[in-house]
Amino acid sequence: MSGKGGTGKTTVAALLAMSFASNGYNVLALDADSVPNLALSLGVPAERAEAIVPLSKNEELAEERTGARPGEGWGMLFSLTPRVDDIADKYGIKVLENLKLVVVGSIDVSKEGCMCPAIALARAFLLHVMMRRNDVVIVDSEAGAEVFGRGLAEKFEFNLTVAEPTVKSLSIASKLMRMASELGVPNNILVVNKVRDHIKALQLVARVFRGKAPLTHLIRWDDNVIKAEEEGLGLNTLPRNSPIKEDVFHLTSKLISFSKRP
Ligand SMILES: Nc1ncnc2c1ncn2[C@@H]1O[C@H](COP(=O)(O)OP(=O)(O)OP(=O)(O)O)[C@@H](O)[C@H]1O
Ligand SMILES: [Mg+2]
Repeated sequence: MSGKGGTGKTTVAALLAMSFASNGYNVLALDADSVPNLALSLGVPAERAEAIVPLSKNEELAEERTGARPGEGWGMLFSLTPRVDDIADKYGIKVLENLKLVVVGSIDVSKEGCMCPAIALARAFLLHVMMRRNDVVIVDSEAGAEVFGRGLAEKFEFNLTVAEPTVKSLSIASKLMRMASELGVPNNILVVNKVRDHIKALQLVARVFRGKAPLTHLIRWDDNVIKAEEEGLGLNTLPRNSPIKEDVFHLTSKLISFSKRP
């Protein structure tokens, strides 16, 4: 997931994760935001979410895998490929039997100055887990372009850039999508979220992308999301016929059939 701040990356990532899981996939949701909040969207209770030790904070892990202690030799993470086979079982939170969550960074990353080591660790992790069949990895990221840094996006099959139906948000989306495709991400999909008027949204897309509109998926505005958030509830509590759930379910089907094409 990429996109400007507040467009709905985390919301869509969480619903996609649940949707893939309900389709029988083994899902790993990777929260690569320095202010992680995917856990809450997935319905992980607050106390449990707070207890998650992010990869970047796990000094033992870094030391064990690379011989470097955070703050001393983080640079080593760039030259070594950490062994990460067992991270999902050891460091993942089990949300459902086939849906795990791993948190990469934390807000304290600001003290360390940079998400780079965390991104390097995430990358090594992803290079491994992506090799297995029937596994889906969904990376929710920081707003902006950092998710494309340090080669993290190199092996992504899809980049989903989330935008709101505004000229500004779509313009940023168009830049991020160009970046993703320059990095070699083969499938770039524009997800226009919080849509109240489908025709108007598509007109805006055509205007901003000047007739070269990418594959586009629209997700409706949904008051249920706001209600759940107000109550501090996860998106797993959304009503079955919730518009956003339906729209993300369709997105999941599209991604599955897209992925299976010859
Ligand atoms: N389809 C929707 N309908 C109504 N509200 C939505 C919808 N999608 C997202 N929101 C709301 O928009 C806000 C931002 O969503 P979210 O946190 O998912 O964005 P984000 O892109 O992950 O933000 P950040 O850049 O801070 O990580 C939230 O309050 C969320 O409830
Ligand atoms: Mg987010």
